[in-house]
Amino acid sequence: MSENTPASGFPTIRPRRLRRTSALRRSVAETRIDPASLVMPLFVIAGDDQVNPIASLPGQNQWSVDRLSDIIKPVLASGVDGVMLFGIPAAKDDTGSGAWDPEGPVPRAIAEIDAIAPDLTVWADVCLCEYTSHGHCGVVSGKTIDNDATLPLLARAAAVYADAGADVIAPSDMMDGRVGAIRAALDAGGHVDLPICSYSVKYASAFYGPFREAAGSAPAFGDRRSHQMDPANRREAMIEVHQDLAEGADMVMVKPAGPYLDIVADVRRTVDVPVVAYQVSGEYAAIKAAAANGWLDGETAMTEAVTGIFRAGADIVLTYAAVELGGSVTS
Ligand code: PBG
Repeated sequence: MSENTPASGFPTIRPRRLRRTSALRRSVAETRIDPASLVMPLFVIAGDDQVNPIASLPGQNQWSVDRLSDIIKPVLASGVDGVMLFGIPAAKDDTGSGAWDPEGPVPRAIAEIDAIAPDLTVWADVCLCEYTSHGHCGVVSGKTIDNDATLPLLARAAAVYADAGADVIAPSDMMDGRVGAIRAALDAGGHVDLPICSYSVKYASAFYGPFREAAGSAPAFGDRRSHQMDPANRREAMIEVHQDLAEGADMVMVKPAGPYLDIVADVRRTVDVPVVAYQVSGEYAAIKAAAANGWLDGETAMTEAVTGIFRAGADIVLTYAAVELGGSVTS
């Protein structure tokens, strides 16, 4: 209790007084959703004239580069300032070489968005899982993922996105040492001013299910538990965060967000760099599915879920609901 709070309690103190009108409630709100702090994830697919609805993510599509303006316009109108790009290549192989193809969907999308919306911040996710035939995030040797052999491939992909004009490089693979490897490659390529947002604290989560359908990146064998974090662990998150900052990360991310609000709050208290939180596909899909069944009010529930993520301490939230939330708060 603050020293200014009278000790007498009820009936002198009635917290309900400040909840009486909606204007009053708005003015005392401690947390607001600012569309400038939202980032919209987008799936970019090879080919032309493709707008493929993603069944597991109602309202979301896979977009070919030539159709991107259909989604970039509403993003701009909503006041949302950033998009995170995920690529779905025409073909996949053992090493995920499509990830560093300068003609792949992501580098082409970066250039296209730069042309139609030069002020939008374009975040490029860096991982191999959308590009490997086995669906794993790195080079597979036997049944394991070879951490150190994967690093140069991630760095190569990051350099291609940087050359294409990305504004933020966001590695999501969870290999040890990837921030340092990417920083070195960016600097060597003259991109010393390009920031890295590391998916530092990424848990091995069942909530990624719909994303793997959207990106066709479900692992062909095994799972991601040898590199993504165990949901049971809290202190370990700080090891990841400190490691990534030491390697040069400019921002750190916690993912998923909703089931990990304690981690978002811990990271916020511990570091001074911007903290990003990702409301992942399963969090979004669960709310959408319940709303579609009439079990809850989808708009209010989504606002509440994202408000909770900001309240826990996130500075920036990635959410598939960015455009709908951004539009509703600016209107
Ligand atoms: C990896 C990546 C994943 C997500 C973002 N980047 C999938 C995974 O690790 O399996 C999940 C995002 C979501 O579920 O919305 N490239």
